[in-house]
Amino acid sequence: MTKHWPMDANILDPGIFPAEQGPPHPLFDAWRDTDPVHWNPVSPTYVPTIPASSMSKGFWVLTRYQDVFDVSRDQERFSSHDEGFVIWDLEPQELELHRANFMGMRPADHSAVKQVVLPAFAPKALQAIAPELDRLAREIVDEVAGKGRCEFVFDVASKLPVYTFCELMGIPDQLRSKVVELGNAMADVETRSQHTLDPTMQLFAISEELCEQKRRQPDEGLLSTLVHDTTLGLSQLQINMIFLVFSIAGHETTRSTAAHFMHLMATHPQQYERLLSDIDKHLENAIEEVLRYSSTTTNFRRTATVDTEIGGHPVRKGDKIYMSYAAANRDPTVFENPHVFDITRANARRHLAFGTGPHVCIGARLARMELHALLKQILTRMPDFRLDGEPEWLRSIWFNAIVGLPIAFTPEPNAARVV
Ligand code: HEM
Repeated sequence: MTKHWPMDANILDPGIFPAEQGPPHPLFDAWRDTDPVHWNPVSPTYVPTIPASSMSKGFWVLTRYQDVFDVSRDQERFSSHDEGFVIWDLEPQELELHRANFMGMRPADHSAVKQVVLPAFAPKALQAIAPELDRLAREIVDEVAGKGRCEFVFDVASKLPVYTFCELMGIPDQLRSKVVELGNAMADVETRSQHTLDPTMQLFAISEELCEQKRRQPDEGLLSTLVHDTTLGLSQLQINMIFLVFSIAGHETTRSTAAHFMHLMATHPQQYERLLSDIDKHLENAIEEVLRYSSTTTNFRRTATVDTEIGGHPVRKGDKIYMSYAAANRDPTVFENPHVFDITRANARRHLAFGTGPHVCIGARLARMELHALLKQILTRMPDFRLDGEPEWLRSIWFNAIVGLPIAFTPEPNAARVV
């Protein structure tokens, strides 16, 4: 947080944003103050690690809350379909895949698919699975509680989103550990090329096999709903893509938010003490403040569909727009003392960590429930947890993710000891 960069620093340069320990907030602050729609040129030293992508042109970086908000809500002028929603340029084949993705669909197709998937995320449906989420969270914590130490990200945090995804889709328990493994491989989006077997193809194969079963034996899960839906007549490839998107979208994001929560509590003892003084009173808002403060998905991209303006600044048709959720969530015009981590912040929930507008995170309510279930277990069963080594940050220009978090705690005497 103390490091300062010159105004013409390039956020693609190694050491600035593909950096460890999160987004470059001092740089975002400087741009927001004097150049809130900032032109970031292509960096000669930046090499995208995503296969089939490149970076051929610069982009506008939005750092003001209001600009990120307005652009997110206007899909007529700012498209996630035309050129995709990631800041990289995509090869034609890759772009087609992004357009088949829920986030990159043409607006009319997106609303039609949303109508079909939305009931699975409605409050009533989620209330029905709440006891199951509590059970899964308890089961995950049971496995480590007796040990006295664990690596939080993979031993604990990555399991709940994947188990929840299995629950949502109707994936049988025996496939869970395979889906966890593939989910972790998918979540490492910028290093995926290092995996020997393509996790996308493996997830497609699982999706196809399960669809076959659901055709014969329908159930309450989302996959069965998609297979039997008659309004859209989805192809197998479209169903595979929806399966894939939900497996990725809810995974790294929720996993990392849980890891940031633990890290922030361990490094802000007064805040942690306050949380422990009344968990039921503070936990919900503490989760919102962690979402705001860490903004694990730091950005998404839109492309201008017409010559237009953002916050009074002209942009041209075809220009790339980088919406920095990380910067928006630290905008002092919305959040007082934005760099202070405060679990009692009155308006923490106004954050844009889930985006806003037509593509707002469909899993936001579910993510909040998952985090609540898991963290309640941790806070009540291992309240004295502490860092047991240095956290490891993902080197990414997209995710603010902790990928290794060793913790230690007093072992729970009655927990099942797993050696
Ligand atoms: C802490 C956890 C999460 C964070 C921070 C997060 C963040 C986001 C963000 C920033 C967007 C883009 C919004 C936009 O473009 O306006 C998004 C979209 C999406 N998220 Fe999440 N997400 C989380 C959890 C989940 C979960 C649990 C699921 C599902 C199981 C999920 C599924 C999706 C989907 C399908 C979209 C695309 C929505 C659309 O295009 O209409 N997310 N999420």
